[in-house]
Amino acid sequence: MMKLTLPELQKQLRSWKGCKLAMTANPVLGEGDHNSTIMFIGEAPGQKEDELGRPFVGAAGQFLNELLASIGLKREEVYISNVIKFRPPNNRDPTDEEKEQCMPWLKMEIAIIKPKVIVPLGRHALGHFFPNIGITKAHGKPQKLTDDITIFPIYHPAAALHNGNLRQSLIDDFQALKKFLENTNIHKRISSS
Ligand code: URA
Repeated sequence: MMKLTLPELQKQLRSWKGCKLAMTANPVLGEGDHNSTIMFIGEAPGQKEDELGRPFVGAAGQFLNELLASIGLKREEVYISNVIKFRPPNNRDPTDEEKEQCMPWLKMEIAIIKPKVIVPLGRHALGHFFPNIGITKAHGKPQKLTDDITIFPIYHPAAALHNGNLRQSLIDDFQALKKFLENTNIHKRISSS
């Protein structure tokens, strides 16, 4: 398969009708630094994301920006995407079928970005890589996916908006992520700060 650029991918996604959600919602591809060594992956666009056609721009996105800032990162410096590229009605959980149908888009984004660390935010994104591991056990612990890619799962920021106890866990996991990036020298900007 010929490798596309992100703008080409964006263009193709706009005319793609490969899942029912694409009939009712706007396409939301990932955004950020195309050369980033770190990629964050959420679940699916919500209302604000659907309106603006951009990932993580609502309340959960605001918290994600704060978490990134807490470890010295700006969102423009990393790449942020989702498992699902269209908003499920009323923000319901995406179905297995919808995840399956949208999977090629995420795979193509990963192939283009070539991140060294992928941070799945929440169980749906974690399930894309490790279907048999739960987020409660896996969060905050790096795991090798391949020789080149480490998965560093963290709870979804929206979960902390509904459950205050998870807030500290997210803050702690971001600190652990910072240490991991420093120790492995994966993200130069953090390691030099
Ligand atoms: N939640 C997600 O998982 N993704 C978004 O883009 C916004 C909220």
